[in-house]
Amino acid sequence: MLPPSAQPISRRERTQDADAAIRQTDSDAALARLSAVRKGYLTDSFIGHLVPRSQLQPPRPPLINVGTFVRSYSIDHLVEEWINISKQEHKPCQIVSLGAGSDTRFWRIATGPYKDHSRVYAELDFPEVTVKKAMSIRKSSQLGAVLGPPETVSLAQGGMALHSPKYHLLPCDLRKPPSEVLPSLLGEILSPSSPTLLLFECVLVYMSPEASSNLIQWFVDYFDSNSVSSNPGVLGVIVYEMFGLQDSFGQVMMNNLRSRNVSLIGAFPYPTIQTLPERFMRHSFTVSKALTLREIREKFIPKSELMRISTLEMLDEVEELNLVLDHYAITWGVKLDPVSNSSSAAWTQWGIRMVPDMPDERESRWE
Ligand SMILES: C[S@@+](CC[C@H](N)C(=O)[O-])C[C@H]1O[C@@H](n2cnc3c(N)ncnc32)[C@H](O)[C@@H]1O
Repeated sequence: MLPPSAQPISRRERTQDADAAIRQTDSDAALARLSAVRKGYLTDSFIGHLVPRSQLQPPRPPLINVGTFVRSYSIDHLVEEWINISKQEHKPCQIVSLGAGSDTRFWRIATGPYKDHSRVYAELDFPEVTVKKAMSIRKSSQLGAVLGPPETVSLAQGGMALHSPKYHLLPCDLRKPPSEVLPSLLGEILSPSSPTLLLFECVLVYMSPEASSNLIQWFVDYFDSNSVSSNPGVLGVIVYEMFGLQDSFGQVMMNNLRSRNVSLIGAFPYPTIQTLPERFMRHSFTVSKALTLREIREKFIPKSELMRISTLEMLDEVEELNLVLDHYAITWGVKLDPVSNSSSAAWTQWGIRMVPDMPDERESRWE
């Protein structure tokens, strides 16, 4: 979850490709997930197939494992609730993960109790990232089998894109004008009348506020009753990223990343937790809320889960953990069409909520 301070990129990489360092953050995220899985914080039988030489990767420190657990728990919870509401409304949903990197969420959903309740799962990232992911998928029978019969799975765009009945892997630069890029990528895949969840898991922070805003607005327009559909689907968003970087902790984080050629330009407009939902209210969302990872850990994760993870490793640095978790947040929001989305209560109440503490709860969650 955390931007590492070591391993600056080479001078050659710095000059040759200014985006290499941004793409490298995917390896950091995947390694953090792999570590949290190996230590028993999370269950994910797919991540090892997406990390090169996964057997040789060293574990991350306990603080990072706990942070990865809280991040993953929160996003899993929101996604699961989203699919659940869609199921209750008898409208199979669509999930679009922007800057998906090596994320395994599609495979975890597709092999869990919610496997039949989504119609599309699309992942977008730089071509350099999607080509590697497509190759890993083709190489791993465990990943490939989840996509469907081999004859329904195809590579496209010289191996940078992959299509299957439900899952689509799509190459693009999300900073480009969305109207030039997204219609050709998503136009044939998405239905403007299905409930659609956008996942921005640690990606908008690397883009200019203007580029992020254009991207969000493209989806808002796509699900606007005046444009593509007369019966538009509900639009939901989840954002996970750093914020409040004006303090000394934030300055250290930004300096560490600057030494790797990474700038967190997308974090500048968000000095406080209150400013995060404003991003979506400016795009006429119906509701939007945000919580820090610290608040989520302290108030929303069942005690049984906290007890369980406390036995996995010794965590001495609780103050440091709180300081880190104070600078990461999950923001979510829903945009309803005032005319067509009549059954709005379930959607507007969607969010991170306290899950009852049940001893066998862990077995019932998809992971
Ligand atoms: C920190 S990683 C997160 C990966 C994944 N979402 C996760 O949480 O495990 C950020 C990802 O966003 C992608 N990304 C950042 N800027 C992008 C852009 N302008 N266009 C496409 N992908 C981008 C990177 O390549 C990388 O895979």
